[in-house]
Amino acid sequence: MSTFTIDTSTSRATPSPVPGKRMTAPAIRARKADFHTEQPIVMLTAYTMRMAQLLDPHCDMLLVGDSLGQVIYGLPSTIPVTMEMMCAHGAAVVRGSWHALVGVDMPFGSYEASPAQAFECASRIMKETGCAAVKLEGGEAMAPTIQFLTERGIPVIGHVGLTPQAVNILGGYGARGKEQKEADKIARDAKAVSDAGAFCIVVEGVMEQIATEVARSVVTPIIGIGASAECDGQVLVTEDMLGLFERTPRFVKRFDDLASRIGEAAAAYASEVRERSFPTADQTYRPKG
Ligand code: KIV
Repeated sequence: MSTFTIDTSTSRATPSPVPGKRMTAPAIRARKADFHTEQPIVMLTAYTMRMAQLLDPHCDMLLVGDSLGQVIYGLPSTIPVTMEMMCAHGAAVVRGSWHALVGVDMPFGSYEASPAQAFECASRIMKETGCAAVKLEGGEAMAPTIQFLTERGIPVIGHVGLTPQAVNILGGYGARGKEQKEADKIARDAKAVSDAGAFCIVVEGVMEQIATEVARSVVTPIIGIGASAECDGQVLVTEDMLGLFERTPRFVKRFDDLASRIGEAAAAYASEVRERSFPTADQTYRPKG
């Protein structure tokens, strides 16, 4: 059953403020022409309805990343993330947005076995969430799958460089492409994913020069994360850039310090409850008149 329709009877799920057109995959793809993107593509992750509402006016794309495994569920990696998690959070983000294109990550194990497996899982994600694209990790090896999905109506966001679902092969989350052989492989991966029809490609955690070269040589928009300012767009994990975590990768810039501010608000609440100074007359129900 579809779960993505906005439920206007739910008090916190506001309907579209402006019934308008969402950003589309062809519109994102068309941002890059002659290897150049005039207006960089803005992407952030979102996992919940309310965060989607807050981010949507500022973003071209919202990514329901499988990073939710760590950020929301406290898992050690993205490996244990399930289809059910991605579908539930994807539907919430679609409900909370009206402008940005919503892309949903395909979880580990849902697409690697065959193009047919990928189509089955990607179509389920699209039906259950209402999202307009899926993202999957991998380069040359995944190109036939990306082509299979794209030719069957499923827009695909590629993801090369540091691919967190491959952490057990890579041996960690360090920057990729320090050696020429690996740098060449990343460039080949990006080209293969582009040729296969991905409408944009996330390039994560690579040496700056590789990302710059890939952005300049691949026709598809390159969205960087820990990559290069020369990319055609940027993405960050929202909770990282809001400063909710003490430990983040080096490439994260904290645009706020929400962890401290939440701590301060919780401490103020706790002390007012303990002093019985909350709730006051403003927050209690009394007979009128
Ligand atoms: O899972 C995720 O959030 C991602 C982004 C970091 C690109 O893949």
